[in-house]
Amino acid sequence: MGGKTKWRLEDIDFGAVKREMVENDDRLFYLLASASFVEILSEVYSENLIMHYRGNADTTLWLKEIWQAEEVQHGRSLKRYVAAVWPEFDWEKSFSGFMAEYAQLCSMDNLESSRALEMMARCVVETGTSTLYRCLHDHVDEPVLKQILRNIKSDEVRHYAKFRRLFIEHNGSERKGAFAVFRVIWKRMIEIHGEDGYIAFKHAYLCRSNHPENLEPEWAKFRKSLNALVIRHYPFRMAVEMLLSPVPLSSYPKKILEKLFIGAARIAVSALSLLNGRITS
Ligand SMILES: [Fe+2]
Ligand SMILES: [Fe+2]
Repeated sequence: MGGKTKWRLEDIDFGAVKREMVENDDRLFYLLASASFVEILSEVYSENLIMHYRGNADTTLWLKEIWQAEEVQHGRSLKRYVAAVWPEFDWEKSFSGFMAEYAQLCSMDNLESSRALEMMARCVVETGTSTLYRCLHDHVDEPVLKQILRNIKSDEVRHYAKFRRLFIEHNGSERKGAFAVFRVIWKRMIEIHGEDGYIAFKHAYLCRSNHPENLEPEWAKFRKSLNALVIRHYPFRMAVEMLLSPVPLSSYPKKILEKLFIGAARIAVSALSLLNGRITS
């Protein structure tokens, strides 16, 4: 991996981690362990993406030398952090279980046949990671983790910007319309909330707990615990603006859609608040 990343894993002082600030936070453990699995595995699944752009040297070079190197560094830094705070957790064992199950889901069939639309799909994924890491960054107080999350969220926003430029470039010749782009946004958003989060949680949980029979209730508990985090810190406006920005529509209908989606997100947050018992009157 010869890519030049904007920051280096070696520059993070893992010896300075204040364990006592985070070690009892199970929700944080599962979020960080799951993210480390998915990020590190990008070394495997990004090969499919690189193959998809064969013949386009600038794109494949950036994917391999910059994007892939940065995603793997995200995974390695989160793995080191998990090891610093939860040293009893057998990361390798848990990851190998995750990899065996998750790798079956990664194939060329997951990619959009259109090169422009695959770039749009990448924009959706990078919107997901940019907003997730920003949400976590705003939530945590532990200084070393805050620094790692600041680094990662900046990388993810740059990835989004690059994929957005590549989408526009490819769509100059493919001319995919708003309907085709919305179809991709919808499909990928469903996938973000899909199986990989469950698979990652499952392998982290099974490796850590002596009660495999509690997997399903613990997963439900974990999902519920995320609601409070989302309500408090998830940057909905940023997510909507990033998702809609590449859509080939003129600025007026795009502004209306932005307002509609942000309004819908606020209603969803209010509903979540009610479910969490945060609104009392
Ligand atoms: Fe990443
Ligand atoms: Fe990324």
